[in-house]
Amino acid sequence: MNSKIGVFDSGKGGLTTLNEIKKLLPNEDYIYYADSSNNPYGNKTDEVLYNIVINVINKLISKEVKLIVIACNTATTKCIEKLRKDYPNMLFIGTEPAIKVACDNNYKSTLVLATPGTINSERTQELIEKNKKKNQKIYLLPCEGLANAIELNDNEKINKLLDKYLTEYTNKNIDSIVLGCTHYPIISERIQIMFPDAKLIDGNLGVAKRVKYILEKNNLLNNKKENGTIEFIISKKD
Ligand code: DGL
Repeated sequence: MNSKIGVFDSGKGGLTTLNEIKKLLPNEDYIYYADSSNNPYGNKTDEVLYNIVINVINKLISKEVKLIVIACNTATTKCIEKLRKDYPNMLFIGTEPAIKVACDNNYKSTLVLATPGTINSERTQELIEKNKKKNQKIYLLPCEGLANAIELNDNEKINKLLDKYLTEYTNKNIDSIVLGCTHYPIISERIQIMFPDAKLIDGNLGVAKRVKYILEKNNLLNNKKENGTIEFIISKKD
């Protein structure tokens, strides 16, 4: 029987998601696929990205996973619907900008940080239309290059991009910031310093709860007592 949970992203961002899932489901076995050779996903066209993503999905399926977590907002917002149609026998859970959480908690002025791909996706528009109340403001801010700078640990570039993109919002009474890219929680402290009064929100806990719920519902939870394993795969340029 397929027993592992596959988790993937364009690099290390999805590790922030995996950490949260592991806290909730420590006994599961995981395969983490970091598709670093195709990083960044955030500026690819829909078609190019879908082909990249199905390549990863096929590799994970060949490793006999029981569920796949798309630990990437860009790939989720752009590909998950088509993936569910093209792979009807696989369970997919995705991560998308936690706009609903910000709206449900009645924040009045929310800044959504994400890749250009996520910000321009129909799904992000839908999330706003479905959840935003009249008295709430939502600013969408595409952060081109930020995920890649985080992937490369390029601190100088990270600081430069944060200054360039975020400074103009520091006097807009922002009370919540949605980290709509799984790479961004890695630099949450720096963002918090720029917005000391804002609540930073990411979708990782929601994803972890959803994984648990779907595995339970499908009777697929791993019942072993000892801690599970994690296998790491990092893609290389051909
Ligand atoms: N970590 C990803 C996301 O959540 C993708 C970043 C990228 O490769 O551009 O959107």
